[in-house]
Amino acid sequence: MKVSVIGTGYVGLVTATCFAFLGHDVACLDINEKRIDLLNSGKVPIYEPYLEELLEICKKNNKFPKFSTNAQEVISQGEFVFIAVGTPPLPNGEPNLSYLQSAALSIGKYMQDGAIVVNKSTVPVGSGNWVAMLVENGVKERVSTSSSNTIPKVKFSVASNPEFLREGSAISDSLYPDRIVLGCDNQEDTLRLKSLYNELTEQVFTAPEFCPRPAGYKKVELITTDITSAEMIKYSANSFLALKISFANQIANICDYVGADVNEVMRGIGADSRIGAKFLNAGIGWGGSCFGKDVEALISIARDYGYEPEILKSARDVNYKQRDLVIKRLQEKLKILKGKKIGLLGLAFKPNTDDMRDAPSIDIANALIKSGAQVRACDPIAIEHCQHENPDLALEYYQEPYSMADGLDALVLVTEWQEYTNLDMQKILDLMVGDLFVDGRNQYSPAKLSELGFTYVGMGRNAD
Ligand code: NAD
Ligand code: UGA
Repeated sequence: MKVSVIGTGYVGLVTATCFAFLGHDVACLDINEKRIDLLNSGKVPIYEPYLEELLEICKKNNKFPKFSTNAQEVISQGEFVFIAVGTPPLPNGEPNLSYLQSAALSIGKYMQDGAIVVNKSTVPVGSGNWVAMLVENGVKERVSTSSSNTIPKVKFSVASNPEFLREGSAISDSLYPDRIVLGCDNQEDTLRLKSLYNELTEQVFTAPEFCPRPAGYKKVELITTDITSAEMIKYSANSFLALKISFANQIANICDYVGADVNEVMRGIGADSRIGAKFLNAGIGWGGSCFGKDVEALISIARDYGYEPEILKSARDVNYKQRDLVIKRLQEKLKILKGKKIGLLGLAFKPNTDDMRDAPSIDIANALIKSGAQVRACDPIAIEHCQHENPDLALEYYQEPYSMADGLDALVLVTEWQEYTNLDMQKILDLMVGDLFVDGRNQYSPAKLSELGFTYVGMGRNAD
């Protein structure tokens, strides 16, 4: 089938590549020329494991997506036009919908008759109607270019197909999703979208060697619903995951008072299948482009109706306080931060990505620098992004942890990259002048590190 994708960021590029891998004809549009040039030269502009390899397969299969900045060329080819542009937060917490607006207008101008406009961007509830209105306006703009001076009749419909991939495991999440949600206003659209996703839902493709099908995985659950419910599912899913993490963090803070280990507590509650073990890792909390933005947006949506969503507000507040807690722990142990050398293990908001959006590392680094500490940081992938996005941040960057550890008073684990969760800690301690290790992701054994001679501080594991 012919698929157009607008936006080639984390979601757009992964979606486009997966559709092409499954055999569809895919064209992608972006307003970022540099990004399109890079893609056309065979390079991938984001760090996402296996994305390059999957594109390579598409090339071999003669299904390499077309990448272009020409809206007409890309949009007009699609029976399905996917919107995957960014919806970043505005200072008041509401999402910035200007990219969505401009994409919808372009679709109206150039789409083919009968196309389905599929919204994959995370958008406020009710955006389906709003996008339809904007597409309609785009269609009207065709008058100025048409010779007959009449508004052409273009049949189209809008659907919602929220995305649930995680950065760092986006290819696996897309090829083997827990579910696919289709929000449509009519049966015909549901059927057409179902058939677009058929290879995926039935799992009738050969799994790539580098990303094998998980054992026991057979078919994808397809959830068909109305557009508003689909939009609400996306916000609720992210809010619930964010809430789970904040719950674990709140329990961690109580564990610190009573002398329990939160890792043990979460193991104990996660074993209950009604609770589930995932997303209960306590630490310095969530970051990234979506949890903060989407929780904030759902708060804002509720307030539009005069409703104060107390649980969502608490989930957000608990999360951001965890970052301050790292500074508090350092103060408690080092007393004076001025002039102290502190190293941060990890910059990206989570492992296996170069994404720095709402990364806890930046808040922690800023607070430490403000307190007069000398702050170093290392990351396997995200240094370039961090420097680019924070040119004024007075961080000293290191490529690897051992050279960074030389002369440190304290070391903080911020991102649990695999490279940082099994370090030679004896070597690290020998290089440091101090002995303080703040385990912001609760990855190390407090007993083992104490035995080596570290002063170990976890998040909710400080049963001294
Ligand atoms: P991104 O910022 O990485 O990419 C967005 C891309 O859209 C950019 O390349 C930008 O240049 C392009 N763009 C903006 N306006 C355009 C226009 N008018 N025409 C063509 N291209 C345009 O964003 P992302 O992280 O991929 O997120 C996209 C959407 O998906 C957001 O709504 C986000 O909330 C949602 N989402 C993201 C993730 C994730 O893990 N990043 C997961 C699920 C859902
Ligand atoms: C998240 C969701 O997991 C995806 O389903 C969703 O599609 C996506 O947001 C989105 O809408 O953008 P992502 O932000 O890529 O995906 O990464 P996660 O793995 O969810 O991690 C988010 C943050 O939570 C990270 O900072 C991570 O370190 C933190 N986290 C995660 C914890 O602190 N504890 C946990 O137990 C799990």
